[in-house]
This record gives sequence, structure tokens and C-alpha cells, in this order.
Amino acid sequence: MEDQVQKPQMPRIGDQAPDFDAATTTGPLRLSDYNKDSWVVLFSHPADFTPVCTTEMSAFAQEKDFFAERNTKLLGLSIDSIHSHMAWVNNVKEKTGVYFNFPIIADLDTKVSQLYGMLHENEDTTAAVRAVFFIDPKGTIRLIMYYPLNVGRNMEEIKRSLIALQTADENACALPVDWQPGDKAIVPPPKTLEEMDQRVNDDSVEKVDFYLAKKSL
Ligand code: BEZ
Repeated sequence: MEDQVQKPQMPRIGDQAPDFDAATTTGPLRLSDYNKDSWVVLFSHPADFTPVCTTEMSAFAQEKDFFAERNTKLLGLSIDSIHSHMAWVNNVKEKTGVYFNFPIIADLDTKVSQLYGMLHENEDTTAAVRAVFFIDPKGTIRLIMYYPLNVGRNMEEIKRSLIALQTADENACALPVDWQPGDKAIVPPPKTLEEMDQRVNDDSVEKVDFYLAKKSL
């Protein structure tokens, strides 16, 4: 049997976000400090001065108010130097007027990329894939997205995911497929036969059957 190569453990939903210190475009940053009392959206891009990445980073920058209004800080990352980041930020500002107004980690030694499983070596051995980690104010990873190098992420889905996570927390509920703000939420299914009988007779919720019921928030 061939020797099995041990793959690095990737953080998963529900894990404590691994802490790190990193050099960024806004100075040294420790995740646990940055994450104090606020959500953090940590996202990687493959490389500076590349077209898809420029569109994505510009979209994040243009949504800064959306994230700030939802107590959420942005944190970018790529395996590039701080000088490359600065030159790219300046270039995009000069050419398009969009300023990447959030810290971008210069992860040249791949420390953070490895810690967060952002290097998928069968996709690319030196560039991070397009990862998004939603980290709540307790430092727990709540949602993870991975996109390949050649497909840009969907900003509407990133925004919807953040609103959905916060809405589910605030209302202790689950949210159905394609849920959008204003839509009904899932009522937790009954856990006992007694609760099931109650649900069957409960006309205050929209019901398909006892296990699938929705209510307005
Ligand atoms: C891009 O952002 O355009 C890109 C980056 C790395 C590989 C392919 C595309």
C-alpha cells in the first residue's frame, strides 16, 4: 500500500476560528482582536493584479457600508507581498476610483492560508482558492464557501448568507431554501409526540405537515 500523505486539517463549521497574527495593508493584525465583538468575513483571492480578483475585491469594497451596518469587518488575504498589495490597491483606486478600504493580509509564507485550508494543491500549488469564512463575534466559524480560481464569487449570496446567519441567531430558527429577508422562517420540528399533536392543531403557522411549518418573523 502506498504511503498516505497526511492532508492538513481544515477548519470546519462550528470550529473556533484559528487565531493568527498577520501583516496587512492597514498594519499588523491579530484575528482575535479584530474579531472582538464583531463578525469577520475572512476571504482569500488567488493573486493581486488579476482580473477576477479585482472584480471581487472591488465588490467587497463597494459593500463596506452593508457589512459595517451588520457589525461585520472585512479581511482579505492572498499569497502576495505587502508591496504588491499596496501597488494593486493604488492602481485600482487610480483606474476605477474604488479603494480597497479593509485590511488585506500579505500571506507570503502561506501561514494563514495553510491554517484555513485555503491552498488546494490540486487546483493550484501556490495560490489560495477563493475562500470565504464567516466568523461570529464569539470567534466561531459559522459558514464556509470555496470557489475555484476561474469562477468569481456571488456578492448577493455572500450578503444573503450573512443576513441569514444573523437572522437565524436572533430568532433561534432555521431558514429554508432561497430564503430572503422578509420571507418566513422554519419553525423547529416537534421533538415529542405531544408537541407533534400540538403542531397538527396549530393554525398560527403555515404548515405542509407537522415537520415542515413556517412562520413570519
Ligand atoms: C483572476 O483573478 O482573474 C484569476 C486569478 C488566478 C487564476 C485565474 C484567474
